[in-house]
Amino acid sequence: MKLAPSLLAADFGDLRAEALEVEPLADYFHFVVMDGHFVDNLTIGPPVVNALRAGLSKPFDIHLMIDYPIHYASRFEVNPDDVITFHLEADDEPFRAIEEIRELGCKVGISLRPITPIEAVFPYLDLVDLVLVMSVEPGFGGQKFMPEAVERIERLRGKVGNRHVTISVDGGINVQNVKSVVDAGAELIVAGSAIFGKSDRIAAMRALIAAAEQTQ
Ligand code: DX5
Repeated sequence: MKLAPSLLAADFGDLRAEALEVEPLADYFHFVVMDGHFVDNLTIGPPVVNALRAGLSKPFDIHLMIDYPIHYASRFEVNPDDVITFHLEADDEPFRAIEEIRELGCKVGISLRPITPIEAVFPYLDLVDLVLVMSVEPGFGGQKFMPEAVERIERLRGKVGNRHVTISVDGGINVQNVKSVVDAGAELIVAGSAIFGKSDRIAAMRALIAAAEQTQ
């Protein structure tokens, strides 16, 4: 299992320090970009994400909860190991969005709202590096995990087969439910309040990893 702390739950007034605190056990930094249209919330954009690169050594997992991913994706300064993930429900044509993001030289991810049938992403599985299954309605951290995400991940896992597509899950993940999504086939776990809502973030990440790897 890989872990991507979601900086949406971090102290926005001290994002670099928050990122550095979790960096030792983070496989990616998860940034949530919201435009106030695709979701009813506004967060950060390219200037903030780009400014945070200096001093951070782990790849960026940039989740675009925005209507026009093609228009904004090229404003992110990306490395080959970074991922830019757009939503299938966004206004841009998905095949074109995949192509445009791929041309930026980073990995491409596609995400779905809980209401969107998981089969809707199947036509794109040969073209993307990651599929992000939302286990809450996108827009806010600290929401309750939707257990139906487990069955969606299982169906997606079955369809992905041996393609090199990472299955990621995001929303309400904690030590009680992380094993269920990992056992279903999720490989990259996004967690916000389960990490930044704790005083000892490293201990919180260790607890998530241990819970996922439990054999019983
Ligand atoms: C929610 C965001 C998540 C959020 C996760 O819309 O996409 O990344 O930060 O936070 P928790 O883990 O608290 O649900």
